Amino acid sequence: MTSIPEIFDTLAYGPAPEAAAPALAWLEQHGRRFGLFIGGAWTQPGSETFETQNPATGKPLALLTQASEADVDRAVRAARAAQPGWAALGGHGRARHLYALARHVQKQSRFFAVLESLDNGKPIRESRDIDVPLVARHFYHHAGWAQLMERELPGRVPVGVIGQIIPWNFPLLMLAWKIAPALATGNTVVLKPAEFTSLTALRFAELCEEAGIPPGVVNIITGDGRTGAAIVAHPDIDKIAFTGSTDVGRIIRTATAGSGKKLSLELGGKSPFVVFQDADLDSVVEGVVDAIWFNQGQVCCAGSRILVQEGVADRLIAKLKARMEALRLGDPLDKAVDMGAIVAPVQLERIEGLVRQGQEEGASMWQPSWSCPKDGWFFPPTLFTEVSPAATIAQVEIFGPVVVLMNFRTPAEAVELANNTRFGLAASLWTESINLALDIAPQLKAGTVWINCTNVFDAASGFGGYRESGFGREGGKEGLREYVRWEKGGQADGRTGGRNGRAKASSKRRRESSAGSSARPPVRPSALPAIDRTPKLYIGGKQARPDSGYSMPVLDQAGHSIGEVGHGNRKDIRNAVEAAHKASEWARMTAHQRAQVLYYIAENLAARATEFSRGVSPGEVELAVERIYTWAAWTDKYDGLVHHTPYRNVTLAMPEPIGVLGIVCPDQPSLLGLVSAVMPAIAMGNTAVVIPSPVAPLAAIDFYQVLDTSDLPGGVVNIVTGPRDELTSVLAAHDDVDGIWYFGGAEGSAEVERLSSGNMKRTWVSHGHDRDWSDPREGAGEEFLEQATQVKNIWIPYGE
Ligand code: NAI
Repeated sequence: MTSIPEIFDTLAYGPAPEAAAPALAWLEQHGRRFGLFIGGAWTQPGSETFETQNPATGKPLALLTQASEADVDRAVRAARAAQPGWAALGGHGRARHLYALARHVQKQSRFFAVLESLDNGKPIRESRDIDVPLVARHFYHHAGWAQLMERELPGRVPVGVIGQIIPWNFPLLMLAWKIAPALATGNTVVLKPAEFTSLTALRFAELCEEAGIPPGVVNIITGDGRTGAAIVAHPDIDKIAFTGSTDVGRIIRTATAGSGKKLSLELGGKSPFVVFQDADLDSVVEGVVDAIWFNQGQVCCAGSRILVQEGVADRLIAKLKARMEALRLGDPLDKAVDMGAIVAPVQLERIEGLVRQGQEEGASMWQPSWSCPKDGWFFPPTLFTEVSPAATIAQVEIFGPVVVLMNFRTPAEAVELANNTRFGLAASLWTESINLALDIAPQLKAGTVWINCTNVFDAASGFGGYRESGFGREGGKEGLREYVRWEKGGQADGRTGGRNGRAKASSKRRRESSAGSSARPPVRPSALPAIDRTPKLYIGGKQARPDSGYSMPVLDQAGHSIGEVGHGNRKDIRNAVEAAHKASEWARMTAHQRAQVLYYIAENLAARATEFSRGVSPGEVELAVERIYTWAAWTDKYDGLVHHTPYRNVTLAMPEPIGVLGIVCPDQPSLLGLVSAVMPAIAMGNTAVVIPSPVAPLAAIDFYQVLDTSDLPGGVVNIVTGPRDELTSVLAAHDDVDGIWYFGGAEGSAEVERLSSGNMKRTWVSHGHDRDWSDPREGAGEEFLEQATQVKNIWIPYGE
């Protein structure tokens, strides 16, 4: 037995196990077999079952049901039947239910924490002090949004039935992140937990019964990826909300393309943890513990890339190794343990494989001297140094307790290294200089930036990615937008919602193809031949000849030729994208300066109104001028928010531009449509590659003459005329385009969504629904601003 002086010497902890008995008794009570929760009732365990195991022992915990396509269908029907009643309860009615859920979670918090740690392998300290309190907080916070919905989201209605698919790393917390906002805004849900960690979701289903949630509002079905795929494919689901790997996210993006389903994806990351030389290194070390050894590194926003300024790198490495040596890894139910088990053998193998690869590629690996328990699936905290930025372990999400460390010299180099990833979920910055932190934070391509802290979350703050980390936000007011749509038809969000609104092929397509037809047009007789104009494109602020050297005729309604436009091709689009990237300084101009340019465009357009006769209807120029005024006005008024997160910090929710946007304009009205789509995009700081109306492209040509004289920096707006479908496909598949808006037919919309999955670009498509561009809400509503921006949350702590 260890003597007391020895304990003082080593400061070793004795075991402090949390009792598992209540959770195990609950499993026994169910005979360790579970069915599905559909329409407020439990099914018998199905014919196909699978085992869920305790990662700390490898022993089975229970048998779960693999939900079939028929089960998914029944769950969707139950959710559909319940949705109108749930929405009709009104904000206050739903608030009461969400409040009840929050209270029930709190009352059961110890039980939930134990069950989560048993099923997932995470330390009880984390499930008890972080996961479960945040679950309750999420339901409380969203009870508030339910109460305020009518006031705070006027003109918006629930999306309908939501299919939700969640991962295994924060099982109950991800459930809360999905269910709370959906229910608050009047939707009903079919949720599938991950196959490794379904138990807390099943207990939550019971809680819904106990709390009196109306049958069908929450449906929980278990199963693996096949069940997930059946949810994604179900025709009567209105929106899919997914958290998980980028690979599956891409499959879901492709599978839902053209279906009209709303989609939010919270995917992987490789988040930078940036340490400047003036940082408090002891805080940094504790930050690293929270960044990468929290939940064994199985965290989508784990700070898995330490970037440290050269001068302090050696000191930091020495401190980190000392801290790693002192980390305690073992039984997740031990209250004195820092790290628990890896969720499943397959995940452990993935981590081991990547660590081997890191060594083979020449990086230097360090692990503490102690060894892991042999029962169960454990992996020690691991540090890689001498890592090249292009190495696999520096680029790929490992999703384990493995961190790579690289050096930088200057802040500019830090930004470059930090952004050297296809992901963009989160970042943290460590410095005692607030000026430096606030200079760097906006330059990072990440949905969340933590200053001198990391992995802090709250229901009041939005969470979600840039780039291939997905799109949409969870939490905060920005997260609510994912679960509502604009009231009138499908105009605003491109679908009518639910079963009413599957898109119909638009008659536009027929007209569209006629514009690209090579048949010789009849020539309008005229006394004097018009002065011949060579049709050009507008790229990088210059009129550019199309690469093909060809032009296309433009016909009026009677089929007479009224002019020609350049026949743009793949190369022209590539040049335009390059020019748009080069113009990225536009985003860093002040909002006031951008507004001034927009007003100047309006002024010049008004002055040249009489020149716009070709393909433009009477009054259209005047309306376009007014529209530009609207967006100029918004430029410095679409503010962010300061979220009230319950810590000593301010959390700034800043709308930032998406980057380079492809904009495919509507057929008609040609000028007003172009102006209405392009101006909000550039007002918010994006640059654009524009494909104008295929039936009346001449207005775009006349319009670039206006841009040319309006102080708009070259490359902010680029216009490429030509065969719309062909050009759109190039734009949608282009990996350097960050988002694409498509105002055209259903097939074209589907193609855009499908092709966008390559780099997970944000899409906004109309699915063939016409929009009334002259209407101030449909043609200039707030939705344009939301679509033109993504919210970055910057957490700034205060106090000493
Ligand atoms: P996964 O993405 O396969 O699983 C997440 C969820 O999607 C689970 O509920 C799963 O059943 C479901 N799913 C799987 N295939 C599906 C499909 N075709 N259609 C619809 N749903 C489907 O993640 P997995 O395999 O468990 O982990 C693999 C890697 O993914 C990890 O090593 C990690 O890098 C990453 N990952 C990232 C997460 C994040 O939060 N960013 C969470 C979980 C995993």
